[in-house]
Amino acid sequence: MRILSGIQPSGQLHIGNYFGMMQSMIDNMDKSELYAFIVNLHALTTVHDPKQLVFDTLGAAADFIALGLDPERCVFWVQGDVSEVTELTWVLSTLTPMGLLERCHSFKDKVAKGIEASHGLFSYPVLMAADILLYQAQQVPVGKDQKQHLEVARDIALKFNNTFGETFVLPEPIISDNLATVPGLDGQKMSKSYGNTIPIFLDQKALKKRVMAIVTDATPVEDPKDPEQCNLYNIYKLFAPADRLQEVHDLYVNGGAMYGKIKLELVDLLWEYFREAREIRERLAGDQAYLRDVLKMGADKARQKATVTLDLVRERVGLRY
Ligand code: ADP
Ligand code: TRP
Repeated sequence: MRILSGIQPSGQLHIGNYFGMMQSMIDNMDKSELYAFIVNLHALTTVHDPKQLVFDTLGAAADFIALGLDPERCVFWVQGDVSEVTELTWVLSTLTPMGLLERCHSFKDKVAKGIEASHGLFSYPVLMAADILLYQAQQVPVGKDQKQHLEVARDIALKFNNTFGETFVLPEPIISDNLATVPGLDGQKMSKSYGNTIPIFLDQKALKKRVMAIVTDATPVEDPKDPEQCNLYNIYKLFAPADRLQEVHDLYVNGGAMYGKIKLELVDLLWEYFREAREIRERLAGDQAYLRDVLKMGADKARQKATVTLDLVRERVGLRY
């Protein structure tokens, strides 16, 4: 089984990214052939500060490795280092109906938030389809927000196969139900672009500040509450041990849940949960030469697969003569 997923280097990694996609990728490392990459070409649709992009690209590499990805046991690279993907994007874009892209929520949401409606932002899903199809990925773990992009990738692959003959594997999204959308501090989807995240690698003081800012209701402590409707509980349950979670669940249902106390407990749980990763990340951040070497090795491995697919595509569409 070949599993592939990517993450944009566009800010601090948060617990939504971790539970939404990273954890399932890392868990799959030994069960499958894993392709994990940092999508810097996609990030260009919103990041126009070169120093920042370089910083975040190396930062994302450090994040992945610190959280358990072993670059020796998978293919781990930076998207733009394998430029074959841009040629495939062009070929696919000549088959992609405008209407398919016009229906994409992500484009509309980003424009509504004030991001410039560039051609790159509009055709973002075509580049993502190329990412997936170039490596003939069978499964793609992503958060729920990326489901539509996966459907676009499948539609494009089908259209290509129908037009030019069987070429691409049809990718399946892997979306784990209970973790599909990790809520943010305000209860909306946790997202860098909503400013409502709990970044994984914060110092303890900043972490506490974020957790204390989780929005809760004003119901009196002794009143019964539905835990599943509580933003704090929905974050807390990702980290609490089962027996303690049951106790807190009962406090919600029977009355007596104290938000302040649960938040302080959550700070400690988060701090412990990512302790080892934090220590590794601190070491890696100071060793850019190592990170660059690892990414180069990954790009070399990824390119081997990419050139095989692209050669086939060139032949199929008539670019080889
Ligand atoms: P963001 O919305 O913070 O900019 P990205 O778009 O970079 O995050 O998402 C990277 C990966 O993390 C994607 O697979 C996405 O689906 C997943 N993801 C992001 N936010 C969440 C969330 N709140 N819950 C679950 N998965 C998420
Ligand atoms: N669009 C994805 C996101 O914002 C990132 C991404 C780009 C991706 N290419 C991909 C995810 C290929 C999975 C497979 O999260």
